[in-house]
Amino acid sequence: MKSRLMAEFDKIFGRDGSENIYFAPGRVNLIGEHTDYNGGHVFPCALTIGTYAVARKRSDDRLRFYSMNFEGLGVIESSIKSLEYKKEDDWTNYPKGVIWALMEKGYDIPYGMDILYFGNIPNGSGLSSSASIEVLTGFVCKDMFALDIDNVNIALTGQYSENNFNGVNCGIMDQFAIAMGKENRAIFLDTATLEYTYAPINLTGYKIVILNTNKKRGLGDSKYNERRSQCEEALKRLKTKLNINSLGELTEEEFEENRQLIGDEILEKRAKHAVYENRRTISAVQALKNNDIETFAMLINQSGDSLKNDYEVTGIELDTLVEEARKQTGVICARMTGAGFGGCAVSIVKNEAVDGAIEAIGKAYKEKIGYKADFYVVEIGNGPEKLS
Ligand code: GLA
Repeated sequence: MKSRLMAEFDKIFGRDGSENIYFAPGRVNLIGEHTDYNGGHVFPCALTIGTYAVARKRSDDRLRFYSMNFEGLGVIESSIKSLEYKKEDDWTNYPKGVIWALMEKGYDIPYGMDILYFGNIPNGSGLSSSASIEVLTGFVCKDMFALDIDNVNIALTGQYSENNFNGVNCGIMDQFAIAMGKENRAIFLDTATLEYTYAPINLTGYKIVILNTNKKRGLGDSKYNERRSQCEEALKRLKTKLNINSLGELTEEEFEENRQLIGDEILEKRAKHAVYENRRTISAVQALKNNDIETFAMLINQSGDSLKNDYEVTGIELDTLVEEARKQTGVICARMTGAGFGGCAVSIVKNEAVDGAIEAIGKAYKEKIGYKADFYVVEIGNGPEKLS
């Protein structure tokens, strides 16, 4: 991989020996979906697939970006002196946004860079290819310009750039999961305080299988921002009586006692998901600690049902994958993961059932949807690193 990346860099930019290679993972969320902008808990993990960068410092202010995933777009240029969102700059708005955000936060980026990217996270799959690019870019800048920034702040800078440069009101989960990833561990993060602990994922006898609808989605064009405002509106109405700062502060009982304050069926469903999903996430981590995989799996299924029925962020493609997956013996749970409206589902499958399940789900999906799904048996990996 390293020599292939260097050879490609040489072809595009010409090597001078000062280049370094970096990596940042993608992520999958096990449970705690659409809770991170509601002050709730999430439970994601970093993957061993992700994004690579070959990068070097320039002596002027130019930024030159190239992606092996979008060869047709060629080298896209800008300058550290004029960083603004431009539609025609396409995917480079992600690295540009991070460099802009670092400077906004007072970090010194004195020179431009030549950076080549290559990702083996399927684009638009909901496994956070964009957050992976963001964290990677922050990590490259930290290393290249000796910035005094830790990985939590790299994550926050990535989120800041996504919110304020790219116009997507995402929460902190993706960037945090990527920046703070640890092998064989999932991250139990309280998004209200950013307190976190690592929980070992000892799924002996099981594999985590990701099911990709191959229905492309981007947060910008999804109903993501709409869901977020619906939750904000529900919270506003609850606050007429309750002294709370977020939906994540409520227990199920408190929600049931006060839900009539919301006074709108759709908003009530959205808020119900946010409250119950947060509580489910806390219970799921406890179940895992007790080595109670059955309860863990049951809660993941409940999360999926709530995302389908109350939060309504699935669609025929995700529903088909999840329904077909749950029919298979050996698949102990399945649900959509990430923002939704396409992208991926996540499932936990008994080792011996993996191949058969993939074949059966794939066949049923193709018959119903008309195009194929993809499947990845994934491993939980580390956060960003410098490879050379
Ligand atoms: C996207 C966002 C995250 C989170 C999830 C839903 O991945 O980037 O912040 O809100 O959707 O859980």
